[in-house]
This record gives sequence, C-alpha cells and structure tokens, in this order.
Amino acid sequence: MSNRMWGGRFAEGPDAIMEEINASIDFDRKLYKQDILGSKAHVRMLAKQGIVSSEDAEKIVEGLETILAEIEAGTFVFSRALEDIHMNIEARLAELIGPVAGRLHTARSRNDQVATDFRLWVRDTLDGLDEQLTELLKALATKAEAHAGDVMPGFTHLQTAQPVTFGHHLMAYVEMFARDRSRVRDARVRMNESPLGSAALAGTSFPIDREMTALALGFDRPAANSLDGVSDRDFVLEALADASICAMHLSRLAEEIVIWCSAQFNFIKLSDKFSTGSSIMPQKKNPDAAELVRAKTGRIYGALNALLVMMKGLPLAYSKDMQEDKEQAFDALPNLSLALAAMTGMIDDLEPNSDELMKAAGSGYSTATDLADWCVRVLNVPFRDAHHITGSLVGKAVEKNIELEQLTLEEMKSVESRITDDVYNVLSVSNSVKSRVSYGGTSPDNVREQAQRWLEKLEAEAL
Ligand code: ARG
Repeated sequence: MSNRMWGGRFAEGPDAIMEEINASIDFDRKLYKQDILGSKAHVRMLAKQGIVSSEDAEKIVEGLETILAEIEAGTFVFSRALEDIHMNIEARLAELIGPVAGRLHTARSRNDQVATDFRLWVRDTLDGLDEQLTELLKALATKAEAHAGDVMPGFTHLQTAQPVTFGHHLMAYVEMFARDRSRVRDARVRMNESPLGSAALAGTSFPIDREMTALALGFDRPAANSLDGVSDRDFVLEALADASICAMHLSRLAEEIVIWCSAQFNFIKLSDKFSTGSSIMPQKKNPDAAELVRAKTGRIYGALNALLVMMKGLPLAYSKDMQEDKEQAFDALPNLSLALAAMTGMIDDLEPNSDELMKAAGSGYSTATDLADWCVRVLNVPFRDAHHITGSLVGKAVEKNIELEQLTLEEMKSVESRITDDVYNVLSVSNSVKSRVSYGGTSPDNVREQAQRWLEKLEAEAL
C-alpha cells in the first residue's frame, strides 16, 4: 500500500530497506511536544486568518491535545510506516477527528515543521544548559571562596612553576564556564527565529500570519527567507560548537581531578558518591565520574563534526540528509548535560588536602621567581641578571638536593654578595601567593574578592 500522506502518485509501497533507511520515528518521536505545540500555533493562526474555520481549528486543537496525553501516557502507537513524528501525529489525528485533520497541513510542509520543532528542542536544551552552567559556576565559586588561601603548586608544562591558591585555580574554571554560558546565551538569541510558514521552500500563497505563529512559539520574529528557513541548521551546529568548547573545559577539569586524586599527587579527596571501587583491587577508589566526563567530549566533538560534514555539500533548500541532524544532537547535548551535572556534584563534594597541597607547593623551587623579583626590587639589578643569579642558586640547591630556603646565607652570598637575610621572607609559599596582588593574580584577597563578586552576581541574576 502506498503512503497515505504522500502516496497519491505511487502505485507501490516502499521496500522494507527503504522504510528502514527513511523512517526517523525511532528518534524524532522525542520531538512530539514541540510538534504538537507548533501544530496548535499553526492551526490557530489558520483560523484567525480565515484559512480554516474556527470549528475545524477547535477540533484539531482538541485532537492534538488528546494525542499529547496519549503519548505521555505511553498508549500512543508509533508506526514506522508513517516515517516520522509529524506523520504519526497527523495520521492519529485523522483517526480521532476524521477528514478535518487534513486541514492542519494547509500552508505548511514537513520542511518548515521539522525545522520549527527542532529549533524549539534545541532552544529548550540551551536553556537547560544555561541553568546547569549557572549551578556549576556557583559550586566552583563557593568552593573557591572557602579555599581562597589554600596554597598549591601552580604548573606550566605540568612542571612546578609558582605557588597559586586552590581557590585561584577553581576561579580559572569559573571564567571558562562563564564564557560557555555566555556563548549558549548568544546562540539562543541568534537562533530564535521561526521557520514556520516557510512551507516547503518558497513560502505560501495562503494569507498566513507568520508573526503570530512566531510569537505563539516564543520566537523573536519569523525567519526572513523561506529557503533559509527550511534549510538552515546553523542553530544546531552552533549549539554543538558551544557544547564542544564547554565539553573541552569540562574535560580539562576532569583530567585535573583524575590527576589530583591519584596517590602520587594526593591533592584532593573525591567523595565516595562520585567514585567507584575495583572488583579485584580492594584498595582502589577510582574517579570514574571524572573519567567519563572527560570521555564524553569525544562524542560531542563527533556530533559537531558529523553535522558539519553532513551539511557542507547540500544545495538549497531542504534535503533528506538533514534528517540525520537529530540523532547527533539528541546524543551530544543530553550527554553534555549529564557531564555538567556530574561535574557540579564532584565539585560540591571534593575537598582539597590542604596540608599536602602546601607541602607540594614548596617543592620544586616554586619560589625561584620570587627570589629573582627580590633581587630586582632590593638590589636593583635588571630582571635578566636576577634570573641568572637565581638560576645559579637553584643549581646549588639542586646539587645539594635541598630547597632554596635551606641554602645558608653564606651559600647565597657566594653567588651574589649583596643578598641579605631579608630574602628568606620571599621564599615561603604563603608570602609568595600573598605578594601576587596584581589584578587577576593569585593573592588570597584577590581570589576571595573574585569569588564573592561572582557569587553576588549569580545571586543577583536569580532575583
Ligand atoms: N523526517 C524529516 C526530517 O527529519 C521531516 C521532513 C521531511 N521532508 C520531506 N520533504 N521529506 O527531516
């Protein structure tokens, strides 16, 4: 039997393989709510414009509401033969209210319908990510404020560089995730145009009111070009690009958590709630949640890449290729959401091992720069010379296998005779971080101020 929706010119039904490759109902059923919302907005507009009668529109709206309830109750029977969510709903509508159902598709095509549904889904998803990023920012800033003064080693090249504070380290991620959140917000603003009424590609001869449907669906305006309206997938690409950057940030933090909670580093305690044990090694406590957050990045980048490649060769306007957009987004974006939730939980629960951090901060000659700066300040030598003097002192300490502050004043003087006792003040890691008062620097006061600024900002936003 040929398809009831479009089979007028077909003598035969589709091959089983055709049905298999063509049907999207197994995944696009996820769009049922958006599809029904879009259809209700559309038919109300048709009634207002006198394109369908109010009685017919009323019947259609009621039928759509019944279908919504059926889907939510799990009693709706989805059919692959009906391809996708749009035709599954329309066919059921016909069963429920008879031939009047056929009026719903006036001045509309599945092309603008799916573009509208998917935009609504992506928009809701972006709003959800926005909220989750806000929660993560709060968790990070709260933890940073509590540990604004906990000294830890700062690294470059994963080699001890200079002491920083744990709070400062976490606040770096606040800046990153805040940019992610602003990217998500930007994307939402740009995507919020309604494709509905673009029809198949050329618009329609019916006197539709696109402003009305746009408004009803919470869009800022109708998309200005019908060809673009049905064939644009920038909105999902941009969401996936933003998701990819955010996943990259999550993955970096996850990687640090994995490193930090290893026995060799022992920088943090991860809560039992976000760790697992080993079935053979009883001593193990593994940071599986962090590892999985790190791993999710792969599928999120994959989705972005798949979609970019899928779109790049498509002539205007709609091509069926675009049906492949959904599974990618349906996989990537909820996985990002899961990763954000897991990261927020981990941050809430983790505790730095402050003593270990302090100990580690002092090893590896982390205050060598402070010593060089002291030479510049007190001895008034050019920084390059100070660097050289300090390098020689570090060399001496390495030779003796001791820390810088364990060198005697005599040993120091043998390298630079003008060095005085005062130098020992800058060799402590606490004094080192306290001295980093430049804007954005790691001094505990700075960090506390930044954390408080963020917490106040987040609180004010919530009002
Ligand atoms: N299931 C289709 C999709 O997801 C709906 C649009 C079909 N349009 C068409 N002209 N065949 O893209």
